[in-house]
Amino acid sequence: MSDQKKTKRRDFLFTASYALGAVGVGAAVWPFVDQMNPDRSVKALATTEVDVSAVEPGKSITVLWRGKPVFIKRRTQSEISEARSVKMDDLKHPERDEDRAKNPEWLVMLGVCTHLGCVPIGDKGEYNGWFCPCHGSHYDSSGRIRKGPAPTNLEVPKYEFINNNTIKIG
Ligand code: FES
Repeated sequence: MSDQKKTKRRDFLFTASYALGAVGVGAAVWPFVDQMNPDRSVKALATTEVDVSAVEPGKSITVLWRGKPVFIKRRTQSEISEARSVKMDDLKHPERDEDRAKNPEWLVMLGVCTHLGCVPIGDKGEYNGWFCPCHGSHYDSSGRIRKGPAPTNLEVPKYEFINNNTIKIG
């Protein structure tokens, strides 16, 4: 075989394997891209509308949103006053109650302890809020961490009031 013919054969082999490689990458990438297009059921779960008309002052409900519990608490006037009178210096993760609860009567937050993810219990703990029994984190009536190993306050998700009785989470 002449040198020229050898070179052409090498070129062909290189081109063929390169093309195959491109197909392989394309096939591997597609399912990943496809997974990133949420179907309708996923989009529906992205937001949740909750009717809160039956929740009495001082009571709370737990709803599931994106597979996580969300606490919706209708606070009493004394719980609101207590949450709003706390000094920022006393907080491990300083956040004003006014910034956490758009409507002071309603507190909406993820029911997931910021320590290791247990679900805290309502109306428990030393700060008239929530208590996580897993390792002893105490949250106040604004869901702010006050004592225990949790590093941050219970997270407030994106939400809005669609009308007086309905909260849309997400
Ligand atoms: S998971 Fe809540 S205190 Fe550890």
